[in-house]
Amino acid sequence: MKLIVEKDYEELSRRASEILVKEIQDNHEIVLGLATGSTPKRMYELLIEEYKKGSIDFSEVQTFNLDEYIGLSEDNPKSYNYYMQENLFNHINIIPENTHIPNGKAMNLESYCKEYEDSIKRAGGIDVQILGIGTDGHIGFNEPANELEAETCVVNLSESTIKANSRFFASDVMVPREAITMGVGSILKAKKIILLANGEKKRNVIKDLLEKPIISTHLPVSLLRLHPNVTIIVDEEAYEGEK
Ligand code: PGA
Repeated sequence: MKLIVEKDYEELSRRASEILVKEIQDNHEIVLGLATGSTPKRMYELLIEEYKKGSIDFSEVQTFNLDEYIGLSEDNPKSYNYYMQENLFNHINIIPENTHIPNGKAMNLESYCKEYEDSIKRAGGIDVQILGIGTDGHIGFNEPANELEAETCVVNLSESTIKANSRFFASDVMVPREAITMGVGSILKAKKIILLANGEKKRNVIKDLLEKPIISTHLPVSLLRLHPNVTIIVDEEAYEGEK
């Protein structure tokens, strides 16, 4: 795992955006794995700026999002679908059919998850996967557990995730309890992975990831140790160690 420590959130976002700009320039038909949450927001703004400057073109880019809450429709402002439209897709020339976000209102969730996984395969797999990280070590919504699902699946959110995400809702009880998420295997199949973490709240989990030479389903992010091409970009607040 390659570690990049940037001074602050702005610099972290710039570094991540620069890497993605280069990847998109090198491969116009790139398949991106995208994340939601607070962490990638500024990176998306910077990508929009680059698009407006004419440095990148999304007309042949495909995207697959990591996760979505179950029960929220795509026009619900709390849904990750809405987030993606607002924070990226509405501002660039991506073709809507080329964007994929799990459907939290799917009728048959089991067959839907299989179909989502198959659609990633049909696209040729993910070239670059962007990840955030939960304070509990989750990636996507793969929460710490004795067992983790390899492929796209339905999961129950952990108490700590419900609490962390309650900041986006009126209260804890409004946070959906279930979500669809790509599995850890779906994530590990990406050719490159870029994990972003900023702020003091992520310091403990980043320390665990960097300092504990273990792989554990109780720290889902530790499975990234099995992947040959992972770049972790953190800011100084999320990092406690030699730079
Ligand atoms: P955040 O969420 O970017 O809002 O901190 C990250 C995550 O839960 O994966």
